[in-house]
Amino acid sequence: MLVFRDPQKLQRWALKQREAGVRVGLVPTMGYLHEGHLSLIAAAKKYADAVVVSVFVNPIQFGPNEDFEKYPRDEKADLAKCRAAGAAAVFLPTPQTMYAPDASVHVTEEVLANRLCGLRRPGHFRGVCTVVAKLFNLAQPNVAVFGQKDFQQACVIRRMVRDLNFPIRIVVAPIVREPDGLARSSRNTYLSETERQQAVGLSRSLHLAKRLFREGQTSAKRIVARMVKSLEADGLQVDYVEIVDAETLDPVKTVQKGNAVLLAVYDGKTRLIDNCLFS
Ligand code: PAF
Repeated sequence: MLVFRDPQKLQRWALKQREAGVRVGLVPTMGYLHEGHLSLIAAAKKYADAVVVSVFVNPIQFGPNEDFEKYPRDEKADLAKCRAAGAAAVFLPTPQTMYAPDASVHVTEEVLANRLCGLRRPGHFRGVCTVVAKLFNLAQPNVAVFGQKDFQQACVIRRMVRDLNFPIRIVVAPIVREPDGLARSSRNTYLSETERQQAVGLSRSLHLAKRLFREGQTSAKRIVARMVKSLEADGLQVDYVEIVDAETLDPVKTVQKGNAVLLAVYDGKTRLIDNCLFS
């Protein structure tokens, strides 16, 4: 497995792969890899001959009071996991190698990014789009894989790819959950024992939403109200719960199959997100 720290070296290698007809897959991550990430690598391998995993805690997608400094990092373990998962290359840049001190070009998606998490985390999706566009230019992938866990992120990136004509297929892989239903996330490591137990409330509320819909409830307002009650009863502080069109992220009043329910809560000081589609 190749390890690139220098962006230019990755780009030269990737261009050579493409010239030789090798299909390149990219899995962008912030590291501290878990089963969720490994499932993204496995998905990428289905579409690509050579999978590049990027591991970069991207400073420009964190707000001033967010967890950039304390975001968990473990390069050695990440490299071992990528090797075991069959990655062809790992890209490990630093903020200094990724961003010129006077960098002045950013990528902004102006509609989907201004909803849900985007409203609560100003500048977050600008940071995500900018780094993902750069990773696309560096790794030259035919296909890039993202997790459904970050549902809004996947929508924003699809829109960026469409509107800027990136010749890249975007694959969104299903959420990987713990046995009790908690979606895998590097941020789960922040949770105390009690908070970890409370965190099952996120998936519990999503199950409730799906059950209500199956039983014939189609009022988004009523479903959301029941979810909020359930989340609060589990000791979680609701940031938002919304039912939206899965592509436009427009809020819906009457729930239909294919709509998505997205939520963000605080479990203690840790902000957790989750989502599911109505089927
Ligand atoms: O989903 C993430 O881990 C990050 O937002 C991403 C896509 C790697 C960009 O930094």
